[in-house]
Amino acid sequence: MNISIVGTGYVGLVSGACFAEMGIDVTCVDIDEKKIGRLLSGEVPIYEPGLDDLVRRNVEAGRLHFTTDLSSCLDQVEVVFSAVGTPPDEDGSADLRYVLEVARTFGRNINKYTILVTKSTVPVGTSKKVKAVIQEELDKRGVQIPFEVASNPEFLKEGAAIKDFMSPDRIVVGTESERAQRLLSRLYRPFLVNNFRIYFMDIPSAEMTKYAANAMLATRISFMNDIANLCDEVGADIDMVRKGIGTDARIGNKFLYAGCGYGGSCFPKDVRALARTGREYGSPMRIIEAVEAVNERQKEIVVRKLAAELGDLRGRTVALWGLAFKPETDDMREAPALVAIDRLTCAGAVVRVYDPAAMDECRRRVGDAVVYCSDMYEAVVDADALVLLTEWKQFRLPSWTVIRKVMANPLVIDGRNIYDKAELVAEGFTYKAIGK
Ligand code: UDX
Repeated sequence: MNISIVGTGYVGLVSGACFAEMGIDVTCVDIDEKKIGRLLSGEVPIYEPGLDDLVRRNVEAGRLHFTTDLSSCLDQVEVVFSAVGTPPDEDGSADLRYVLEVARTFGRNINKYTILVTKSTVPVGTSKKVKAVIQEELDKRGVQIPFEVASNPEFLKEGAAIKDFMSPDRIVVGTESERAQRLLSRLYRPFLVNNFRIYFMDIPSAEMTKYAANAMLATRISFMNDIANLCDEVGADIDMVRKGIGTDARIGNKFLYAGCGYGGSCFPKDVRALARTGREYGSPMRIIEAVEAVNERQKEIVVRKLAAELGDLRGRTVALWGLAFKPETDDMREAPALVAIDRLTCAGAVVRVYDPAAMDECRRRVGDAVVYCSDMYEAVVDADALVLLTEWKQFRLPSWTVIRKVMANPLVIDGRNIYDKAELVAEGFTYKAIGK
């Protein structure tokens, strides 16, 4: 089977490499010539554990190809996946420019029955627009070529993307015909050994499923952050509460960790987009609007805690451990670290940062607003406070004795609740966490 995947971001590249691993011939397409150039020379432009090897292996086996020209491979493929970006507009709605551009190229160049499957997270109703654009291009050409659109949202997590793609909890596919269903279930059959479920449904339901899933997960986080902040006030411990409720099978114990807010390329964008869809259709999403507001405020929590301990932050030195929005990625999109850096530098603090993977990304985003340190221990030198923002493994069990010696003031703000309060207090630190 031959397929093509447009967009070589996280979703596109991971999907492409994983399909190729299953013996499918995959052509990955991107308009970014530099990116394709790097991929052709064997360089993977994103940080994702295991992806380098997977890409290299499949390129060498001749199953994974890269090009900047979608039209050049359309005659050989039956299915085209569109996994291009949908960056948020100023008003929070998804910018569909790239999605519709793929549809246009598709309509201009197909010569036989082909399915265009949207993998990008797009607002409900987008597939209709995609279909209309393709039809418009076919009409311009004056040809009648059968085609179909389908929706196949992707649920993979950064940092665990390959595992998630290879053994997904479920696969959701929205189609309009049995023919498309047959083709797509054949394409996903190699993954069946892992006993996963594939759900075929109508296209609007598939589009909605993706938003509902991400919004539900984001809701759990904002809910727990709200409860944690109240725990702080009433003297309760959020970790106890989490265990207490998570053992109820109806609630489940996952995604209940309070912290300094969620970030990333999906939750913030999707929550806003869903709220917007609700407003557009006159069906306001009150919970979702609150989830977003709680999260925005939660990203400032470490700075509020710092100010409560240190008073005026002007001239104070603050060390930040972790810049990426979560461990095992260099991605800083909507990361709580960006809010912390902004608020701290505006307040006149000196910010010293360290992250195992996101230092270059941070430089690109904030330039020399902060001091870049070569390791976690260098970051805390002369610091008035250490703030943990991302729970990378290497931050989990540091040598507190060493840190205590080099810090100017022994204050630790644990934005992810990973440290043992008793241990830090015994080492002479003032320890503040979220909801404990
Ligand atoms: C998410 C979804 O999990 C995935 O299904 C979807 O396809 C894309 O969006 P991702 O953005 O890679 O994936 O990150 P995820 O691991 O889900 O974490 C998102 C954010 O939530 C991180 O900032 C993380 O720190 C935060 N989080 C997660 C919490 O604050 N508490 C939790 O309990 C879990």
